[in-house]
This record gives sequence, C-alpha cells and structure tokens, in this order.
Amino acid sequence: MDPKDIVYVNGSFLPRAEARVSVEDRGFVFGDGVYEVLRVINGRAFATRFHNQRLERSLDGVRITLAKGDSPARFVEIGRQLLKDNNLLQGEATLYMQITRGSTTRAHNFPPAGIAPTVYVSVARFKPYSDLAQSGAPAITHPDLRWARCDLKTLNLLPNVLASQTANERGAFEAMLIRDGVVTEGTKTNFFGVVNGSLRTHPSDNHILPGITRSVLRDLARDLSIELDETPIKTSEIPKLTELFLTGTTTDVMPVVKLDDKPVGNGKPGELTRKLQRVLAESLASGGD
Ligand code: PDD
Repeated sequence: MDPKDIVYVNGSFLPRAEARVSVEDRGFVFGDGVYEVLRVINGRAFATRFHNQRLERSLDGVRITLAKGDSPARFVEIGRQLLKDNNLLQGEATLYMQITRGSTTRAHNFPPAGIAPTVYVSVARFKPYSDLAQSGAPAITHPDLRWARCDLKTLNLLPNVLASQTANERGAFEAMLIRDGVVTEGTKTNFFGVVNGSLRTHPSDNHILPGITRSVLRDLARDLSIELDETPIKTSEIPKLTELFLTGTTTDVMPVVKLDDKPVGNGKPGELTRKLQRVLAESLASGGD
C-alpha cells in the first residue's frame, strides 16, 4: 500500500492503513449508511452538484442527520484535499464518500441522540474501460432481488454484489436486472436500449438509482434531438433490441454487444450508442463543476 495513500475518517486525515472505524459501526453491522462515487478528471470532479443533491436525498431517505457543519459539499472539499495529498490532480480518479448512522451497541432502532454519523472519504486512481468501450461488453440477464427503495444509494448492496459476481463468473461485464418482466438497471449502471428505433430506459422511480450519467446523457441526447422514451424495456422486447448500452460514473457509455451469450443487434456497438458515447466523452473532457 502506498504510504501516501491518505483517507479521511471522522475529522482526521491519515494513511489508509491506519484508518479505523469501530466494529460496532452501523455500516459494518447493518449496512446502515449511504454513499456516492464521483468521477475526477485532472483534479475536477464531474457533476458535483448532482452528486451532492443525490447524497442529500439518500441521507434524508434513510433519516441520517449529518453533524453540524458537515454537508455533501464539505465532503467534496475534503475529497479535493485528498486529491492533492495523494498526487491525483492529473489523470483519472474516483472520489468515494460514505456516511453511516454511527457506532453504538447493536440495536435495530436508531442510536440514542448524540451519536454522530461516521464519515469516510477517499480517492483512488481510476483506469477507464477503454478497450471494452471500443469493442462492446457482454452482459447477462439476472433477477432483480433488491428492495423497493433502489432510488436511495445505500450500502445495502448484497443483491448487487451477488448478481455482479454471477455476471463475472459467466464472463460478462454486468448483469442487467429484471423485475416484474421489465429491465430495471444494472448492478452498478443504468441500462438503455433501442427498440423499433426509439431509445428506451426505465423511468426514474423507486426501482432504479437515478444515475447521474443517465440524466447527463438524457440532456445531451435532447440537445441532439434524440428523445428518450422512459418506458421500461419488457423482457419480451429483448430479442427486438437493435442496440443496448449501459451508463455509470465508472463506465461512461458502454455498448453491450452480447446478452446471455447471444448477439445484440448485429453484435457490434450501434450507431446511436457511438454518438452518445462521443458526446458524453466530450462532456467529461470539458470538465466538471
Ligand atoms: N454505481 N445503478 C446503480 C445500482 C448504481 O450503483 C450506479 C452507480 C448507477 C449509475 O449511477 P451514476 O451514473 O450516478 O454513477 C446505476 C456506483 C458507480 C458504484 O456503486 O460504484
């Protein structure tokens, strides 16, 4: 481990190897917390405002109140300090922030008043999936076994972890999750497909995470006069898909060219996918906020 690998935990900046949280932390015991992952290019975090708003929403959704003086914007500032401390102001990096309901004797109900949330912020070098972005990636379909508040970015990722591992074991990059006969999203990405010439994705409701890349891409598509139809793709429509791609902070627009070992469309990244891939790349390159 790089001795310069500095992270932030509960008010302290210290080497990752020395960073500690209690075994009674509710993140550890219950997965009782929320998180965000931001993309950083040459020291600039992308779509900070949207990530901060989503973090506020997740915190409200699980009823975690930050300590006085803390805020998502402050965590991003801490992240900026970490980028400097870790020599990550050039090139690609990710910024991770996690807040749990704090540490206290195990009990399902909330801790007594006065227990502060645990705050963890870290940064890491990131290598984009450039080869797969060119060739396109394989995916599998998988049942969506998650709870009914997938719109909150919580630490409860067990169904995502299991589906992701199944995809990995089957040589696929991502699992496309299916709930009640429709495509919801991926384990760490949102899915888009082209059916009968129209671009479709699941609407932003309690069954998907409102992806920041998803909404940036929707706006970029609109600028190109490409309408996004938020009617979920039915499993019965999967054979009719001519293009399929996924989006996310760490995946950008990635073509999906194979699904359950069968080619999607002609088995190559589609034209619309390529166009959207380009405009998102331009937007990322032009900097964050
Ligand atoms: N995942 N859906 C899920 C379930 C996700 O976990 C993510 C992000 C997305 C894409 O959202 P965004 O465009 O805001 O990154 C969709 C992050 C990267 C992660 O868990 O590592």
